Amino acid sequence: MNLAETTAVVTGSSSGIGLAVCRALLDAGASVYGLSRRETALDHERFRWLQTDVTIETEIDRAFEAVFAERGRVELLVNNAGFGFFRDIELIDPAEWRKLIDTNLTAMFLCSRKVVPSMKAAGCGMIVNVGSVAGKRGIKGGTAYCASKFAVNGFSESLMEELREFGIRVACVNPGSVMTEFFDHAGIEPKKFMQPGDLARLIVSLVELPDTMLPGDVTVRPL
Ligand SMILES: NC(=O)c1ccc[n+]([C@@H]2O[C@H](COP(=O)([O-])OP(=O)(O)OC[C@H]3O[C@@H](n4cnc5c(N)ncnc54)[C@H](OP(=O)(O)O)[C@@H]3O)[C@@H](O)[C@H]2O)c1
Repeated sequence: MNLAETTAVVTGSSSGIGLAVCRALLDAGASVYGLSRRETALDHERFRWLQTDVTIETEIDRAFEAVFAERGRVELLVNNAGFGFFRDIELIDPAEWRKLIDTNLTAMFLCSRKVVPSMKAAGCGMIVNVGSVAGKRGIKGGTAYCASKFAVNGFSESLMEELREFGIRVACVNPGSVMTEFFDHAGIEPKKFMQPGDLARLIVSLVELPDTMLPGDVTVRPL
């Protein structure tokens, strides 16, 4: 996909990986809509922040209505919004569990279903989902987070198989630790990190592959 003059939506745009992806997409020439609860501090003529809590379906509806009203289409969706906590199961409140699943998984479903009809009509498009290495193997204390990210992998692979015949590509990027605000609240402290800008470059390079190439699932860790 040539990003110049394409329209992209990035969830979780206010910090970390999502903010870096917005910057990288703008550098590549895309028009970018960022969805987050806190303001996304990006001053660029091709960027617009739409205040959105992705756990609230009506807010997602409103955001995509605004994008389609202005642009008529979305070529790229990056489902990135998410958070994690690592804690013994008896210390996890059911409301926290539901909020994590709503944010990391259900929002991905709700946002994807908004863009698929216009991508099918165009016969092209791409959805990139941000999973995690925690979606590949279980981690002590990670019942909620790993469950959500394993599900993100299953969701992504199924959607990839569903949409490839329409010319739409679905990829799932599974990073190890990235230096972001994620670890301010996660309750774990990794020893090695990647940088969000490098993750963003990886995501943009997948998007920029020839449309005939379908990157499925990409796992990347700090060396
Ligand atoms: N950092 C890592 O090591 C790592 C590794 C693997 C995967 N990941 C994944 O990468 C993604 C981005 O995380 P990050 O590391 O960049 O952390 P981050 O800096 O904390 O960013 C998380 C983003 O998600 C947004 N978000 C959270 N809840 C939201 C909600 N209800 N509605 C809208 N936006 C919401 C936040 O925006 P607001 O707070 O403004 O709403 C923020 O922009 C997550 O899916 C995370 O699981 C991170």
